[in-house]
Amino acid sequence: IPGVNSAVLLAAIQNQGQPGELIPALDALTAAVRNAMRPGDVVLFLGAGTITRAAHDLAKQLRHEPAMPNEEIFKQLANCVSPATVLRSDESLARRTTLRVGGKADFYVEPAGETELGAILRFCTGARIPFLLLGRGSNLLIRDGGIRGVVISLSHPAFSKIEITGDRMRCGAGAKLKAVSVEARRNELAGLEFLEGIPGSVGGALRMNAGAMGAWTFEVVETLRFMDYEGSVQECPASQVNVEYRGCPLLKNHVAVGAVFKGQQASRTQIEERLRSFNAKRWDSQPAAPSAGCIFKNPKAIPAGKLIDELGLKGTRVGGAMVSDVHGNFIVNDGNATARDVLNLIAMIRERAKAARGVDLETEVEIIGEN
Ligand code: EPU
Repeated sequence: IPGVNSAVLLAAIQNQGQPGELIPALDALTAAVRNAMRPGDVVLFLGAGTITRAAHDLAKQLRHEPAMPNEEIFKQLANCVSPATVLRSDESLARRTTLRVGGKADFYVEPAGETELGAILRFCTGARIPFLLLGRGSNLLIRDGGIRGVVISLSHPAFSKIEITGDRMRCGAGAKLKAVSVEARRNELAGLEFLEGIPGSVGGALRMNAGAMGAWTFEVVETLRFMDYEGSVQECPASQVNVEYRGCPLLKNHVAVGAVFKGQQASRTQIEERLRSFNAKRWDSQPAAPSAGCIFKNPKAIPAGKLIDELGLKGTRVGGAMVSDVHGNFIVNDGNATARDVLNLIAMIRERAKAARGVDLETEVEIIGEN
């Protein structure tokens, strides 16, 4: 429209009694909006053309801005918990994973109970501080730059209890799967033997719907106990929880705090026989060296380990990371690997699988943290 420009438009808006301000340069716009923002505000960018760039620039800037200084975060976290809780900053995470690579967490906390866990989640959510639940780190690849924000581990004894009534076992999320399987055997409960060989915690197994020997975690779970990010706890029958191969969508934005597992009465000899055969299969087919278990999900066409084996990639190395020569779907750490080595090896395997066989390998390990 002849004669219309931004100054004229602004004057028309102001004439209607609406406040307005003209900022002619996009970069200056991002800065001015950031300056004007207050906690809780929603910012809308409306318009044609390059306005989108300002929106993306601001979103990027906000993602990288610490919500508050680290000393203040530490102080506030300490206020959420009792002295029984472990709280540390700059905690090395490599030793908390079975693959033994990865950087540090800004904050590491082992809450001493559900109330404290709830308080930490509420604080993090409210203050926009990223947080992450760490299980036993057996399915995890943490990048070398580590993790910004708070890493929460449910390894405090308050979360590791196993209580048995009849053929039901109420287990905390921090309990080790091996301990669950040992208790099941002691109480002559069958069906849980496959858990013995999974080097994880109950919480991690629920989150991943971990499996071995043809069975899945949720097949033996009767009730799931979980917390939302406001700290409210709910229990619901596992039959109402949607689960998939190596996943449980509900637990992508809730925290598993425990579960009731159900076994079937059986003789101890029967259970021990199954444990022995599972153990033998595992030791025959899987490496003992540090690893994160299977790296890739099994594609429909062919098990990932078989494919990698057929491609002749066993023994291939990048730095200290090597494709296991026992099982093709395991990457082992010879002691000196970095996360970068493992990631480069993963990329190489994926490229080969795609180029040679047209198969898209999808990682099964969770890859988190910063480069
Ligand atoms: N195979 C090869 N070469 C290899 C590895 C495997 O030819 O290097 C062949 C095997 O002979 C077999 C087939 O591939 O015919 C499948 O191998 P395997 O029986 O070892 O099972 P998998 O599918 O590779 C799955 C789970 C494991 C679980 C085992 C045992 C996935 C991605 N993996 O492995 O889970 O321990 O079954 O039940 O579903 C994990 O999740 O981290 C994990 C290790």
